[in-house]
Amino acid sequence: MRSTIILASNLTKRYGARMVVDGIDFEIRQGECFGFLGPNGAGKSTTMRMITGLTPRDGGRLEILGRDVVPEDPLIAAQLGIVPQENNLDTDLGVAENLEVYCRYFGMPARARAERIEHLLEFAQLSDRRDAPVRILSGGMMRRLVIARALVAQPRMVILDEPTTGLDPQARHLIWQRLASLKERGVTLLLTTHYMEEASRLCDRLLILDQGRILDQGTPEALIAKHVEPEVLEVWTHKGCPDPNTFGPLPGRLERVGDVLYVHGVQLESLRARVRQRDGYSCLLRPANLEDVFLRLTGHDLGEGS
Ligand SMILES: Nc1ncnc2c1ncn2[C@@H]1O[C@H](COP(=O)(O)OP(=O)(O)OP(=O)(O)O)[C@@H](O)[C@H]1O
Ligand SMILES: [Mg+2]
Repeated sequence: MRSTIILASNLTKRYGARMVVDGIDFEIRQGECFGFLGPNGAGKSTTMRMITGLTPRDGGRLEILGRDVVPEDPLIAAQLGIVPQENNLDTDLGVAENLEVYCRYFGMPARARAERIEHLLEFAQLSDRRDAPVRILSGGMMRRLVIARALVAQPRMVILDEPTTGLDPQARHLIWQRLASLKERGVTLLLTTHYMEEASRLCDRLLILDQGRILDQGTPEALIAKHVEPEVLEVWTHKGCPDPNTFGPLPGRLERVGDVLYVHGVQLESLRARVRQRDGYSCLLRPANLEDVFLRLTGHDLGEGS
């Protein structure tokens, strides 16, 4: 059994009368990629900030490497790389200079600094931008620089709050590759996301958070197998949501999201063939995914907050 890196039990945070993190329990183990999947306002960043000691908790137990989390614990700071939701780079400085500041913070001697910066620029594919002012970088480049900066002290664990939100698909894939290579090297990753594709590609285990509560946790495959049928047929028309009665009795559970009808079931090929024969109807048959799990558990999709 791998050792525990983070342990949370009945972790709670309130803002005024509002319970933002409502007594959650989770355990993150050495070398795994653990995900927090949830919509806007679910409490993901608040939980990350409690872990990194930036926000005090109101209740419960929270330990990193067996130590109670307190603000600015230097032993913890050296073990954790932090990628906050907002890029907090120094925009008056250049790319390499942003890394240099962090290397100095960790007291690295000049030669080690130069080597580390070289390595990180290469890792983040920013070697050719080393002297560029940060303010002219694209969103994807800035995100990669924030990730590189989190790695300066070679932490055992990196916490990433929405590493790819707002990036184009190519930029997102590049970051996924980099995160996968960190995991291969044994770095423990904790990330938040509202992209189910990100969660299912990267995460060994994840929890689904909504309105401060954990709806369930496990491997992506186990969550899908537990909560939803294996296939989904999405049906839509160019004029509003399809009438489910058009096709006679449907072989599955029905759900409606916006103007799309979802049929959840097994062996839906013959239904797909029937839908395709109808003028004005379109459909897509696909395997069930985490978004379906989320919808089943909450009644709303991942884009909507509370
Ligand atoms: N400093 C604060 N003061 C008051 N309320 C806050 C504060 N920070 C967060 N909240 C509230 O806590 C709730 C959870 O916010 P949080 O930022 O943790 O959500 P999130 O899951 O990270 O959402 P997003 O996907 O939008 O980043 C929200 O209702 C938010 O308004
Ligand atoms: Mg957030």
